[in-house]
Amino acid sequence: MTREEAEALARADILAPLRAAFDLPAGVCYLDGNSLGAPPRAALARLRDLSEREWRVGLVRAWNDAGWIDLPMRAGARIARLIGAGPDEVVIADNVSANLFKLGGALLAAKPGRALAVAADEFPTDQYVLDGLAGISGARLVRLAPGEDPPAGAVFVKSLVHYRTAAVADMAAEERAAAQRGTDVIWDLSHATGVIVVDAAAAGARFAVGCGYKYLNGGPGAPAFIYVRGDEASALRQPLSGWMGSAAPFDFSSAYEPAPGVRRFASGTPPILSLAALDAALSLFEGVDLRATEAKARRLGDIFLAAGTAAGLSPILVEGRRGGHVAFRHPDGFAIVQALITRGVIGDFRAPDIMRFGFSPLYLSYTDVWSAGEVLRDVMTSAVWRDPKFAARGAVT
Ligand SMILES: Cc1ncc(COP(=O)(O)O)c(C=O)c1O
Repeated sequence: MTREEAEALARADILAPLRAAFDLPAGVCYLDGNSLGAPPRAALARLRDLSEREWRVGLVRAWNDAGWIDLPMRAGARIARLIGAGPDEVVIADNVSANLFKLGGALLAAKPGRALAVAADEFPTDQYVLDGLAGISGARLVRLAPGEDPPAGAVFVKSLVHYRTAAVADMAAEERAAAQRGTDVIWDLSHATGVIVVDAAAAGARFAVGCGYKYLNGGPGAPAFIYVRGDEASALRQPLSGWMGSAAPFDFSSAYEPAPGVRRFASGTPPILSLAALDAALSLFEGVDLRATEAKARRLGDIFLAAGTAAGLSPILVEGRRGGHVAFRHPDGFAIVQALITRGVIGDFRAPDIMRFGFSPLYLSYTDVWSAGEVLRDVMTSAVWRDPKFAARGAVT
């Protein structure tokens, strides 16, 4: 693609006006929104207002007056629209790991004796949490090879968008197979929400979790969400049965009575600062058509894939739908990513050899990504990444 072609795409981009809603530093092409989204101005303003007015002046009264107590369900309703769920089928709580534990534990308790299943190349926390659940429940944990089916009756955790390859699973086909095998699928929507079309209701998906800090731009450590289809929730008792998931927290009764619906999957006090930032970030999605975000992310990823391939890198290609990121394999991927970062192109590295670049369609332009492709070519042809200074690793890669 030529710069002129990228400029033509940028002029026709219906999502382009959203760029102004983000506060991105000058000189940076941010290709890591699949890891930590960029800050929406609305979220930064909400944090200032919350600390200056709601917390400082309102004090404890703000739980009622500023509606903090209802925020997990109110913000959940905004996410529900992005995943094809009903407005009262999503609650914001904790992080993905804790939510997987709660949902997996509830499904195990509902039908004792069933196995847990997860692919051996699934995101590590999904595997670790199931490992922990297996340890305390005695359930068998089955690690699946690529393409292998879970055993009949299992609780099966699966990402809709794979964190390395960005391959998108067929949610409806998986749910049809699950109905035949008697399995319950818990979808991990972390890399899907806010970038690709997800229609849980149409696909027959009943359970899901996902994080708030990637394409939803909720900020570092933003709380996660949990989706349970309305007709399933009342049969489930979750193991972290805290007061915020009880029917009447301020009755101070000693007997736990779960709240109706998905709210029973809340546990303790919600992190209001982070939750308010996430809620404000979610307001940006009002009126946004996820078919447009999916198509734009695809196009942006294609531009960058073409540049990397022309520079001699080996892309990880997927058949069919792709999520919002692309990946290349290279034994010195870490150093290459570091060299790119010093030139303003921020991506990330996933051990042992994967360079990942995310294409958040709300704030990236076609020309940004075209220019980032030129930087990638230059870093590869100049081999500047061989400088030993690029090999020093921090705790987060
Ligand atoms: C697929 C997937 N699941 C879960 C997580 C993180 O879970 P948690 O919110 O517990 O940190 C990530 C983080 O990158 C992820 O990519």
